[in-house]
Amino acid sequence: MRINKYIAQSGLCSRRKADELIANGNVRVNAAVLREPGYDVQEGDRVEVNGHLIAAEAGSVYVLINKPLGMVTTVSDDKERLTVMEVVKDIDARLFPVGRLDLDTEGLLLITNDGTLAHELLSPKKHVTKTYFAKVQGRVTREDVQRFSLGLDIKEEKPTLPATLVIEKSDDISEIRVSITEGKYHQVKRMFEAVGKQVLFLKRLSMGTLQLDETLTPGSYRALTTEELSALKNRTI
Ligand code: URA
Repeated sequence: MRINKYIAQSGLCSRRKADELIANGNVRVNAAVLREPGYDVQEGDRVEVNGHLIAAEAGSVYVLINKPLGMVTTVSDDKERLTVMEVVKDIDARLFPVGRLDLDTEGLLLITNDGTLAHELLSPKKHVTKTYFAKVQGRVTREDVQRFSLGLDIKEEKPTLPATLVIEKSDDISEIRVSITEGKYHQVKRMFEAVGKQVLFLKRLSMGTLQLDETLTPGSYRALTTEELSALKNRTI
């Protein structure tokens, strides 16, 4: 596959932008700066853009976005609101988000065209851990930690699975990290409601082995590195 297509398919940028990166000497193949814009990528080549190894597999695209507040997590919205697809609009592939974040939640979201991986990550049977940072109205207590660890009644058929709650700051507005292994609708907010508290701000930090890249400003994206992709696929979670 021609190098500009290979880079574009990794989700990093458009083909035109890839040509610019190549012309500017930002692309290395097997550690050497690429001087040949028409290079055909060979199996086993290590392609780096600005020092980051990129992952492109025959037609598969994997990008990590930092979802901003105010975007709907869907491919198309019937109310014509801004969707997360806006962030990746210059990528030439039929992409979709893996799972959902609420309109007012920000943070890590994987966008791909790999249905198999999406299924692996979302299947309720796989219990992939998702960790969130939240600001919560009122003092989060050790009793809350205990209650989260036992699972909570959020008015579904069954209580939630045990969740790990870590208090970072307990104050009028508390700061916490919570890890859950399910993906019920508004789950974190409803778990706090179940202990009489309200989530004021919510940000996803990780999904399985994949961590939010804090250098990504909300509304921007980058391709997964080869290491991130293989860790996700090997489900070392
Ligand atoms: N839990 C929520 O309440 N909202 C999200 O967006 C994700 C998890």
